[in-house]
Amino acid sequence: MDIEFVRSRFIKHFDGKTGNIYASPGRINLIGEHTDYNGGFVFPGAVDKGVMAEMRANGTEDTVMAYAIDLKDRVDFKLSDPAGPKTSWARYIYGIALEMKKLGVPVKGFNIAFAGDVPLGAGMSSSAAMESCFACGLNDLFGENKVSQWDMVLAGQATEHNYCGVNCGIMDQFASVFGKAGCLMRLDCRSREFEYFPFKPDGYRLVLLDSVVKHQLAGSPYNDRRNSCENVVKHIQAKHPEAKFETLRDCTWEQLDEVRAEVGEEDYKRAKFVLGEKDRVLAVCDALNEGDYEKVGEMMYKTHEGLSKDYEVSCEELDFLNEIAKENGVTGSRIMGGGFGGCTINLVRNDLYNKFVADAKKRFNEKYGHEPKVYDVVIGDGSRKIC
Ligand code: GLA
Repeated sequence: MDIEFVRSRFIKHFDGKTGNIYASPGRINLIGEHTDYNGGFVFPGAVDKGVMAEMRANGTEDTVMAYAIDLKDRVDFKLSDPAGPKTSWARYIYGIALEMKKLGVPVKGFNIAFAGDVPLGAGMSSSAAMESCFACGLNDLFGENKVSQWDMVLAGQATEHNYCGVNCGIMDQFASVFGKAGCLMRLDCRSREFEYFPFKPDGYRLVLLDSVVKHQLAGSPYNDRRNSCENVVKHIQAKHPEAKFETLRDCTWEQLDEVRAEVGEEDYKRAKFVLGEKDRVLAVCDALNEGDYEKVGEMMYKTHEGLSKDYEVSCEELDFLNEIAKENGVTGSRIMGGGFGGCTINLVRNDLYNKFVADAKKRFNEKYGHEPKVYDVVIGDGSRKIC
């Protein structure tokens, strides 16, 4: 992303003055999908694509003047307006500002212009990139940087919950805030402990194939999955009042089987996927420690199957990309992110890379009339002030 470009738009669309520039990345996730809101493990990393914003206090009590550079769209609103702006991108600014206020940051009126290069709807979390970028800016402009990184993660998540209608977990905002170049991170979403894992798979690379099918998490499909998981926990809790079950993380396979009939097949299958995924993340960590990338890949295929058949968040195009990967001998491949469209993430041996990508482009194009987009994964840094 180009600092001068963002700056030129900021100058042009407001009063000619400059502000501070902040940037935050999107993310990938090697494995551990839909485990974050179930208290499980995730394995994300920040990418070299993200959101960049120039921001400056404008001297008003609570008027925000916002410009989305890529959309050429301007929205002004007041932080005191209880309804907030209707435009979806502006709701991220409104939401994060109110959440930062709740954390004690005395946010006043400001001007903001932002641009991004995280592909929208690709499952790389452009929304978390926005939230953490704006949080970082507001913390710096109004809060003397007193809000901790974790509180900014939670403010981003609360923005999704309270203003955007997605009851997401903490993986995306965590990866965007805490990312570190060259490292994946294993996060325990229950204890919030995490460790950086330098990721340099010798002889392999990670590539994303974007189906360009739009994924839409807002509204029911994502929240429905979360409700299913919570429903299973509720039933298990009722059967075992002596113990405390907060999330599926606390439940065993036996306990899940006990409630199978009463929760119904749909919820059972969803919970079954989550329990399996929790184990797979740990197996991947062990395999990475041993440099066993073939094992990592095997787990990725299992995750895809579970996301497709049990969690039901895949689509025809993503299953097709997964099939092409398998037929090309790709080590591991699976849907990445929330699902319902977006990308597959592929762990592929260097010597197979060109053939695989060419075959995927050709066959996808023959079937769907357009090629998938190809993004080579570069693991970058988290939220930061640029200047
Ligand atoms: C979305 C959510 C995350 C996570 C993933 C699925 O990206 O924002 O919290 O649940 O889906 O792993």
